[in-house]
Amino acid sequence: MLEIKNLSVEVGGRRILNDVNLSVERGHINVLFGPNGAGKSALLMTVMGFSGYNVVEGQIIFNDEDITNLPINERAKKGIGIMTQRPPNMPGIKLRDLFKITAKESIDIEKLAEELDMSRFLDRGINVGFSGGEIKRSELLQLAVQQPSLYLLDEPESGVDLVSIEKVGNKISELLHKDIKCAGERYKKGKSALIITHTGQILDYIEADRGYILSNGTIMCSGNPRELLNEIKNQGYGGCIRCKMMQS
Ligand SMILES: Nc1ncnc2c1ncn2[C@@H]1O[C@H](COP(=O)(O)OP(=O)(O)OP(=O)(O)O)[C@@H](O)[C@H]1O
Ligand SMILES: [Mg+2]
Repeated sequence: MLEIKNLSVEVGGRRILNDVNLSVERGHINVLFGPNGAGKSALLMTVMGFSGYNVVEGQIIFNDEDITNLPINERAKKGIGIMTQRPPNMPGIKLRDLFKITAKESIDIEKLAEELDMSRFLDRGINVGFSGGEIKRSELLQLAVQQPSLYLLDEPESGVDLVSIEKVGNKISELLHKDIKCAGERYKKGKSALIITHTGQILDYIEADRGYILSNGTIMCSGNPRELLNEIKNQGYGGCIRCKMMQS
């Protein structure tokens, strides 16, 4: 579904990502670990197509199509959705207004908002005065309404309290895992995701297929996400960098 090939990216004239290779198959959930400043958010922003992230080498392939140079709105129409780490405030634009543009016809916005405890935010300026956890729930609600086929989630658990984390985790799991019923047959949803996490808390709610460690703009290693998380907890990121040096 998503293939990132030899991707190098500059931001503000500075090389942030270097020869990144990463893929997410249809129906798979991959997680991305890495220290602060590694370039994780930059990678997601580049895949989504935000301006300022200049691809200087490599390709982004989505559903067998090269989207490297497509504008952000075209990527959204093709089924890519993002929860960014720091979404902007949008005074004067209500969530309800946004949903008039992004919602699929069959979506019950009121019900989704209620499930995420967001009903009272539908008529407020987007993110204006929202708390950290409220912003995350708002971002998740926007994705639940948009129903993309590839979810890019930047630290979905960050800043979310211990009670709300269950709500957020279960909603993400439901969006990604639940089967759909069509003409009496059950089909896998086939939704894919690339999720950035520091704590791995989200792994309690979703079944991740593969983990990647990004450090200093480069993928250092990939493998079983829980094993990678344990390695990071036990040895820090240094072990991973040593392993990469031994391989090369
Ligand atoms: N506009 C910019 N100009 C210069 N450097 C930038 C710019 N935007 C991002 N960077 C740098 O790119 C690097 C990667 O940033 P990024 O936000 O992708 O890190 P991250 O891996 O998501 O870190 P964190 O875990 O802290 O969220 C950082 O060193 C950051 O300062
Ligand atoms: Mg980040």
